[in-house]
Amino acid sequence: MSAASFPAVEGAAGAPSTDVDAAVEALRRGLLVGLPTETVYGLGADASNPTAVARVFAAKGRPADHPLIVHLHRAAQLPQWASHIPTAAWKLAEAFWPGPLTLVLPRAPGVLAAVTGGLDTVALRIPAHPLAQDVLEAFGGGIAAPSANRHKKISPTTAGDVREELGDAVALVLDGGACRVGIESTIVDVTTDEVRILRPGAIGAEDLQRVTGQAAVLAPGPSVRAPGRMNLHYAPQARVVLVPAGQVAEEIGHCLARRERVGVLSRQRAPAWPVEVPWLPLGTSPEEQARQLYRRLREADRLRLDVLIAVPPPDRGLGHALRDRLWRAAGLGDRLA
Ligand code: TXA
Ligand code: MG
Repeated sequence: MSAASFPAVEGAAGAPSTDVDAAVEALRRGLLVGLPTETVYGLGADASNPTAVARVFAAKGRPADHPLIVHLHRAAQLPQWASHIPTAAWKLAEAFWPGPLTLVLPRAPGVLAAVTGGLDTVALRIPAHPLAQDVLEAFGGGIAAPSANRHKKISPTTAGDVREELGDAVALVLDGGACRVGIESTIVDVTTDEVRILRPGAIGAEDLQRVTGQAAVLAPGPSVRAPGRMNLHYAPQARVVLVPAGQVAEEIGHCLARRERVGVLSRQRAPAWPVEVPWLPLGTSPEEQARQLYRRLREADRLRLDVLIAVPPPDRGLGHALRDRLWRAAGLGDRLA
């Protein structure tokens, strides 16, 4: 479907807005809305409208069998979307919603197969961003919202990023500022007796364990069920090379010898690096690094780097999710994660 076929929304063209009523009106008309959440910006559509859902897949260039996350306003809506809600799911919902957690549950009979990619499960999340909350409350129904990027590209963390990614395919982009978390939600499969992490995020295995009282297992290897676990995802144009801090200077040398445009993404800049090599600071705390990561990968694109040398943070707490995203950006998927 071409972007030109979307009916215009009054006053919505161009600049990002904070007009919740206009967003709800657009959703009711089956149009797409750029929606700020605390993790990344979503590409929102009425989850009960097959035409709207089809537009999401067309705008993203996403294969039809890749399921979407349905966003809700209140946990009380869960039974409309999930046929069975295990105790562990209720505990997690109570502890972490609204927040950066997505629960995969058995889907209720009425849920559109297009939303779940034909699966018998559905991914559900209550986002914490106040604008998302306002839209969800006023809209009343579920909003299907994948990250508002083109398939396999970097998730957007500002309203401007959404426009850059999707242009006129979105009727309106709500501007909720830069995302507080900066990387996508933790996805947890609670359809079986196990608590399985399908995608790591700001809520870690220890957090999940503390709440459910049972071990949270990382689902092994890339899975066809979650494109977020495919090898090349969240990727900038540049080739991403992961090296420890001590090897950056040497790697820069190799790149320069090949006459490649090279930049470095890291916590600190070392005096030994040539001044002409751009440094993309990743921030110091893990929280700051999560907020910066996608912004910096976009910057690497803007700088037209051939190679981005990245120094992964330690594998502790949020560092685990950051390494997961960096490994994917480097096309290494789960191999070293
Ligand atoms: O933080 C987030 O989760 C953001 C914001 C906008 O909420 N959304 C997001 O959506 O990252 P998306 O579509 O880019 O990633 C959702 C992931 C995909 O990897 C998808 O395969 C997986 O969730 N997923 C959705 N439904 C699933 C299901 N029923 N079973 C397993 N994985 C599922
Ligand atoms: Mg995504």
